[in-house]
Amino acid sequence: MSTRPQGTSAGIERAVEQALAGLAPSCLVVGCRRIQAGDEQYLLPEENASMATREPGARAATGAGRHIAHELLRRLECREPAILRGQSGNPVWPAGIVGSIAHDDEMAVAVAARSDALKSVGVDIEPALPLPHDLRAVVAAPEDRLGDLDPNLGDRILFAVKEAAYKASFPLDGRVLGFEDIAVDFEKGEAVTSFGQRLTVRFAASPHILAIAYTASER
Ligand SMILES: CC(C)(COP(=O)(O)OP(=O)(O)OC[C@H]1O[C@@H](n2cnc3c(N)ncnc32)[C@H](O)[C@@H]1OP(=O)(O)O)[C@@H](O)C(=O)NCCC(=O)NCCS
Repeated sequence: MSTRPQGTSAGIERAVEQALAGLAPSCLVVGCRRIQAGDEQYLLPEENASMATREPGARAATGAGRHIAHELLRRLECREPAILRGQSGNPVWPAGIVGSIAHDDEMAVAVAARSDALKSVGVDIEPALPLPHDLRAVVAAPEDRLGDLDPNLGDRILFAVKEAAYKASFPLDGRVLGFEDIAVDFEKGEAVTSFGQRLTVRFAASPHILAIAYTASER
């Protein structure tokens, strides 16, 4: 049985984008695309050159994410269109921009803001399904404060929030983190890494699980 949500591409894209926008601070621009075969065509030559060869499905997801991100850069009036891949797989945004990209099997999402508004941001998307058993044991840390998290989807939400927090903290200190390095307090809406990065976190559980993590710029 397919686990994919029913509906048109435009409908599900709009629903995911609205859910993501509902989590985001007003300075953040957001976008979503249903991944399609051939989306690797949207990778710019310099982006392609920055990436090691990947299998076609992964390249389509990456192309879909970059396609959204290019549009976000236009909306932020950034003239440099390319988002190269760094040595750790991290997206390297043009000067003056912070952003993040994620994909699950069906959808790609991207978020971006000017760096004078946000210091860093991370995003994740996951199917709205319970986390596989083997992952459940490794995601939670004793320091997590889960509040009244949905018992069915809670593990997957925690997983997504930690991935978003990792993507937001990596550009700040270059530290590769495990799940045990990120403590999430859902009541405060905050994640703290073992290297001292403190991030605001938000999530939605429908139509996909979406998570963002960010830290504001000091003004
Ligand atoms: C970053 C990471 C968590 C992404 O997870 P994923 O399930 O493979 O894939 P997602 O779709 O959620 O995200 C992929 C995107 O993350 C971004 N990304 C990858 N490494 C990143 C990093 N170090 N910092 C910020 N963003 C990163 C990329 O834009 C990538 O998309 P692209 O390859 O199309 O550009 C994973 O690749 C990774 O580096 N893991 C090592 C550390 C880890 O797993 N720790 C436990 C979680 S805290």
